[in-house]
Amino acid sequence: MATLVFNHEEIAARELKPELLELDGISRASVEAHYKLYEGYVNKRNEILRKLADVDVASANQVYSDLRGLKVDLSFAIGGIKNHEVYFEHLGGGGGDPDGAIASLVERDFGGIEAWRADLKATGMAARGWAWTAYDWDEERLFNYIGDAQNTFPVWNATPLVALDVYEHAYFLDYQTDRSSYIEAFFNNLDWGVINGWVAKYQIQA
Ligand SMILES: [Fe+2]
Repeated sequence: MATLVFNHEEIAARELKPELLELDGISRASVEAHYKLYEGYVNKRNEILRKLADVDVASANQVYSDLRGLKVDLSFAIGGIKNHEVYFEHLGGGGGDPDGAIASLVERDFGGIEAWRADLKATGMAARGWAWTAYDWDEERLFNYIGDAQNTFPVWNATPLVALDVYEHAYFLDYQTDRSSYIEAFFNNLDWGVINGWVAKYQIQA
């Protein structure tokens, strides 16, 4: 039997930071429900890897349709983990304008803080699931990329520094259909210190 996953060690969900239960304009109930969805992606990832380890690729062709489903679902689950880990990690701050290295990058690549914010907000309004400010290592600049689901449409060799979740589950409890007000609340809770920590860790040159 030829299997596909040689190491299917399980991973665990990251702890929810206590600051996230006291956000400004995003309720504790909303964050707790949202965190459960994130835990669901972690569980799903572990479950899919277990199933992949049992797929015998040396057997009949009919295996490929099962394999396709598992591989697509794996990209969704792992996307859901990565997107939400950025989201939860960089909330809990005081919002306002960026400072430090991220401010220099934003000014260089968007022409100003307001232009960046307006573009990210518009991208979030246009998206079905996500808008990211990502550093693209090939272009050597920031872009605000759009996402519809957890696995669409990440771009290779780009690192997300801001992850704006615009799925209804992120705001419906607090804002019903008013996504625009939720996005304002999102900006008001960003922790620029965390984001600058990533710029430093990844050695992104401003
Ligand atoms: Fe979400």
